[in-house]
Amino acid sequence: MSNKPVYILAIESSCDDTSAAVICNDRILSNTVANQEIHAEYGGVVPELASRAHQQNIVPVVQQAIQKANIDKKDLNAIAFTRGPGLMGSLLVGTSFAKSLAQSLNIPLLDINHMQGHVLAHFIEEENSKKPPFPFICLTISGGHTQIVKVENYFEMKVLGETIDDAVGEAYDKSAKILDLPYPGGPLIDKYAQTGNPKAYKFTKPRVGAMDFSFSGLKTAFLYFIQKEEKTNPNFIKENLHDICASLQHTIVTILMDKLKNAVKETGIKHIAIAGGVSANSEVRKRIQEAENKYGWTTYIPKFEYTTDNAGMIAIAGYYKYLDNNFSQVAITANARLKVNDTN
Ligand code: KG4
Ligand code: ZN
Repeated sequence: MSNKPVYILAIESSCDDTSAAVICNDRILSNTVANQEIHAEYGGVVPELASRAHQQNIVPVVQQAIQKANIDKKDLNAIAFTRGPGLMGSLLVGTSFAKSLAQSLNIPLLDINHMQGHVLAHFIEEENSKKPPFPFICLTISGGHTQIVKVENYFEMKVLGETIDDAVGEAYDKSAKILDLPYPGGPLIDKYAQTGNPKAYKFTKPRVGAMDFSFSGLKTAFLYFIQKEEKTNPNFIKENLHDICASLQHTIVTILMDKLKNAVKETGIKHIAIAGGVSANSEVRKRIQEAENKYGWTTYIPKFEYTTDNAGMIAIAGYYKYLDNNFSQVAITANARLKVNDTN
């Protein structure tokens, strides 16, 4: 391969964020995201509205990414796009846009697995960035997924454990709804938790496999707990919001840390990375960092803008696929149920 820089435009549209990024080799030049406010009214993502909003957002978001990167479309060497997993209607918008743009520019396409993208966000080159060596363990925690993955190489990932029901972000958002907080409630629970007492209330932890997760029981127990307290004090939530959030957050993050400890014990690997929207959580970040001294782990926390859904992570995955000459077939289609260990 020549030393000429490689420019890739990446598109992410798997859920409710429309995002485009331009990467030059492994450095991000631009990473634009259009969030869809519309879903807040409904307390969750409405798939039909999401795909319609992607259709409206995609052209301006891509234009902005190219402009911010200060390049010309003709400079692009390839287009990367999220093939799955995600909402079919949403994925189709990004997939068809990427396909037609690649065709009109006569450049190759790179189909990217969203879950691999979250993990590979750790390889984006930044000042003072610390990249994990293979093999490492990655805890991917988001609104749709919760899994512990053994990362053997850029595109070789093995699931060690995952949720059998709700994702951790979903647990945050559903609990927030019980507390009458707007969607997505995860960041708000995190905010209130910071000034509350994490030991004020106790919630039981689920019993599942050593590296698996289950959050639906916790959500139900939380609902019953709130209903019971409200019977004796109708202002219970208002008067104790910070303590409630801190206690719930403490329970959730302790579950995540316990599972990671099990994964380290099982594999002997002490290089631990976190990824996905919930890795923006302040207590997750704090306790992962503490584990460096406490358990001798080396930990990797992505830059905030690369944790929630974004095209930057799709771009870096695209760059490594480009180096492998691993381009998409012309007939490539979206796949809503793609798994992190799927190779195509
Ligand atoms: O990765 P992401 O943007 O989208 C998915 O692929 O799902 O993750 C979004 C999820 C939401 O459930 C949101 O509530 C949660 O990440 N989240 C947080 C925080 N920031 C985002 N949860 C807890 N604490 C936070 N600070
Ligand atoms: Zn995601």
